[in-house]
Amino acid sequence: MKAVVWRGVGDIRVEDVPEPKVQDPHDAVVRITTAAISGTDLHLVRGTLPGLRQGRVLGHEAVGVVEETGSGVRNFRPGDRVVISPTVACGTCPTCRAGLYAQCDDANPAGPHGGTVFFGGPESAGGLDGLQAEYARVPFAHTGLVALPDSVDDGRAVLLSDTLPTAWFGARLAGVSGGDTVAILGAGPVGQCAVAAARHLGAGRVIVVDGLTDRLALARAQHAETVDFNSEDPVEKVREMTGGAGVDRVIEAVGVDAERPVLGPARPPTRWPRPRNGRAARRRTPPGATARPPSRAPTSAAPGCPATPRASPSAGPSRWPPRPGASASSASTRRRRTASRSAGPCGRT
Ligand SMILES: NC(=O)c1ccc[n+]([C@@H]2O[C@H](COP(=O)([O-])OP(=O)(O)OC[C@H]3O[C@@H](n4cnc5c(N)ncnc54)[C@H](O)[C@@H]3O)[C@@H](O)[C@H]2O)c1
Ligand SMILES: [Zn+2]
Repeated sequence: MKAVVWRGVGDIRVEDVPEPKVQDPHDAVVRITTAAISGTDLHLVRGTLPGLRQGRVLGHEAVGVVEETGSGVRNFRPGDRVVISPTVACGTCPTCRAGLYAQCDDANPAGPHGGTVFFGGPESAGGLDGLQAEYARVPFAHTGLVALPDSVDDGRAVLLSDTLPTAWFGARLAGVSGGDTVAILGAGPVGQCAVAAARHLGAGRVIVVDGLTDRLALARAQHAETVDFNSEDPVEKVREMTGGAGVDRVIEAVGVDAERPVLGPARPPTRWPRPRNGRAARRRTPPGATARPPSRAPTSAAPGCPATPRASPSAGPSRWPPRPGASASSASTRRRRTASRSAGPCGRT
């Protein structure tokens, strides 16, 4: 069968690979009819999420039709149309039974502290082949498959796999409620779904910040107010748009591959000050800018989170492929400029 295979940072190929088989009574084999690309796949392609085995099939968002089930899968049969959950969970352990499927004690061969298992991820995330393939093996299929009615087409259903739940979770974590003014950082698939999620929770105003005009246009088509960080200072602009008060809630929908403005008043100075005496030097505020752009220097991972190293020459360029006009040397210069800062619970800033 054909599958999208990871051969190295920036080296993704469509290759012939062996078809998966039922290996365990709780497995199902699903014929994939639609698969999506997640921002998380981009981290793997760029090398900002390390630990992938050569030849690993990528992808964790897909819809398909059950082809074969093991004897332990009693709730699905061949021919059922399903959406596949990106994370794998046994459905039996105490954490699964508490509804915390991403913290399953049994799915990761490394044991209860091994972290979330997901398709097409690093070895530390279970080392499972992914869903950007003609067929996929789904472990614990009785828990990980969700039946789809025929009234929901593949294009809409695939959003239910990861993108929309992630955005919904983000909007719930942010505590969005009636009348809130909400800022959404990042207008990728998650950011776009976060606009819908925030609205659904009653947001009064939604402001989306990104540096890509086509994505901002898509957000505007959802009637979000947009700020392009390459033409305006986003902090100043949001302050101005909110009468100086700022927003009530913020949803960060960017992740480890956060970019700095390349143009406009929020663009960082050409050179950041060098660290002195092992401590980061205080920054000089660039003219017109009020906030330091996000750095890409996550530290070691918390349990359950993929380990993300400090940027290193072997980690590949910070953006892959580099932006048009950006040379390899500018990518490495950006890496050298990377400053240490404390990371969030998943080592993601
Ligand atoms: N797509 C999914 O289903 C999914 C699910 C779970 C988690 N995630 C994670 O959520 C994050 C977003 O996912 P995505 O698929 O939308 O990714 P994406 O890479 O398609 O979108 C990220 C967007 O953020 C913008 N951006 C970069 N730097 C920025 C900055 N400093 N300020 C504002 N915007 C900035 C980029 O221009 C891009 O449009 C990723 O970290 C991904 O790993 C995605
Ligand atoms: Zn479990």
